[in-house]
Amino acid sequence: MADFADNRLPVHGLDADAVLARLDDFAADDRDWRGGRVFSLVYNAGDDVLDLLTRASNRYSSENALNTMAFPSLGWMQHDIITITTGLLGGDRRPGGSAGVRGYLTSGGTESLLQATKTARDHGRVERGIANPNMVLATSAHAAFAKASHYFDVESRRVPVRSDGSADVDAMADAIDDDTVLVVGSAPSYPQGVIDPIPELGALALERGILCHVDACLGGFILPFLGTLGHITKEWDLSVPGVTSISADLHKYGYASKGVSIILYGDHDLARLQPFITSDWLGGLYGSPSMAGTRPGGPIAAGWAVLHHLGEDGYLRLAADAHRASSALKECILSTPGIALRGAPDATVFAFGADDAEPGIDTFALGDMLIERGGWFFDRQSPPPSLHATVHAGHAAVIDELCTDLAASAGELARTGVRAEDQSATYGTI
Ligand SMILES: Cc1ncc(COP(=O)(O)O)c(C=O)c1O
Repeated sequence: MADFADNRLPVHGLDADAVLARLDDFAADDRDWRGGRVFSLVYNAGDDVLDLLTRASNRYSSENALNTMAFPSLGWMQHDIITITTGLLGGDRRPGGSAGVRGYLTSGGTESLLQATKTARDHGRVERGIANPNMVLATSAHAAFAKASHYFDVESRRVPVRSDGSADVDAMADAIDDDTVLVVGSAPSYPQGVIDPIPELGALALERGILCHVDACLGGFILPFLGTLGHITKEWDLSVPGVTSISADLHKYGYASKGVSIILYGDHDLARLQPFITSDWLGGLYGSPSMAGTRPGGPIAAGWAVLHHLGEDGYLRLAADAHRASSALKECILSTPGIALRGAPDATVFAFGADDAEPGIDTFALGDMLIERGGWFFDRQSPPPSLHATVHAGHAAVIDELCTDLAASAGELARTGVRAEDQSATYGTI
């Protein structure tokens, strides 16, 4: 554990090497994501991409995208990222083409979902006179929607998923009323990696005159390539009738540095509801497209750089690697007695744990043993108690070693019946 005993501002500053050495010390207890041990939070496309991200982000570490008149390069890069993303997420295949599609960069998936919810609230207020809005979403939709509900006073109506982990469209239809401003689908969902029936959700929204947001924060930069490779056939993007907005995180399967997500609206009048503009202070006309005021240039530059460095063939190669690794891990789970997959995951994200049909293994004890055996880190989640795996291209090299440790750990726990003392499932920071 890092020693913060003297945590006050040093009277005399330390030299840069000493400060950097301390950062290395602090990191000693962090999980080994570079070695492919972490199945959560980090996406790794290899050392050459990491080096590019560091250099691009350093180059723009001080520039501020709050004012693109001062830094037009950041305005231009954002425009380019949005145009590329529009093509990837089906904007070009909308009836009438991409002419009406508009988008913004945000700091991450959570901020994109906050914006989608706020835009829906404002749209309901302005266009439909709704004072007490609600949104209808599956229990699998990301926790950021709960945050959005809390921040913006939009009642959240969570509807249980079907046994395969997908959104139950009929039950969601029953939850909609005259005050519903937003229907949500995930592509895929975080907890079990399932792509919701987006065409049915879009049709439902269209029929009732409600907005429909697809949360493709997780899938937005891998599903298009898995589709090209023939691994995904479901429809899930902005080309689906009734879908009015979509979000995709460049800092997930886009393999960018942290701090960059994209939200696209299918219609520019809807998109216009997102930015905040005021002149009600002494500082002049102030406009801001997203939640933050100051917006760091580094993530934008790194995001732009990685898109252009990898290109379509790079993303196809990474998607193929991630798919191969996740298929191998799923195979290993399915063939190991006592453990099972949760739901019917579509892509490279899934959850697993004790097989209900063969009780015996404690899921969280399995997670603890994987950490002990090989430093393999899986987030815990619940309900039901599960270990969560986000498999990326960087895992391809280590998946066989993991499968050996997984089978051995499950075998040992089946024999000993050891249970984890700590049965809490926390994802995030409390
Ligand atoms: C489906 C989905 N939506 C939204 C988010 C939130 O993204 P962020 O952590 O970048 O805020 C995540 C994060 O894992 C996610 O998986």
